[in-house]
Amino acid sequence: MIAIYPGSFDPITLGHLDLIQRGSRLFERVIVAVLRNPNKMPLFSVQQRLDQIRLSTQHLPNVEVDSFDGLTVNYAQMRHAQVLLRGLRAVSDFEVELQMAHTNKTLSTQIETVFLATSNEYSFLSSSVVKEIARFGGSIDHLVPPHIALDIYQCYNHNSPMLNPISTEATPPLKSMSAQKEA
Ligand code: PNS
Repeated sequence: MIAIYPGSFDPITLGHLDLIQRGSRLFERVIVAVLRNPNKMPLFSVQQRLDQIRLSTQHLPNVEVDSFDGLTVNYAQMRHAQVLLRGLRAVSDFEVELQMAHTNKTLSTQIETVFLATSNEYSFLSSSVVKEIARFGGSIDHLVPPHIALDIYQCYNHNSPMLNPISTEATPPLKSMSAQKEA
């Protein structure tokens, strides 16, 4: 059985990769499909995202990476896939995902949506959270693969995080507000 894992993946996170890895054990083939969405202003181009995902999944022989536009169910039918794979992090995801699954069912009765619960450690994680942390100088090394962390830091004009991931202490140390006042 072939599963499509559709999404924006701007960028792919460890949460997405966990889902792909687990999906690759359940299905004969998993096709990670990046939506070419003209309505969004992404951080990375579709080609960059394809390269990032390919590099991150190269150890999984039954995972393929592709892009598509238009309706996901049409793409799934074109690829002879029977399943749309989606992750569920929290109740807030459920409403949106259920609506999407029902909509897709009205478009094609042949395609089933299969949800996997996101692993606990990634239940808070999203591409937007990753971008926000990096934009403000925080570390994302624990949230995305190393090569993607580097790509993101470079987008925000630094080569590494400016803040320590746990303590959010500045590295090199920034002066505290009181120290700045005293200076
Ligand atoms: O990673 P995302 O942004 O949550 O992925 C959303 C995605 C790409 C799966 C969804 O927007 C989608 O399937 N778009 C394609 C258009 C479509 O098929 N729409 C009908 C279902 S609502």
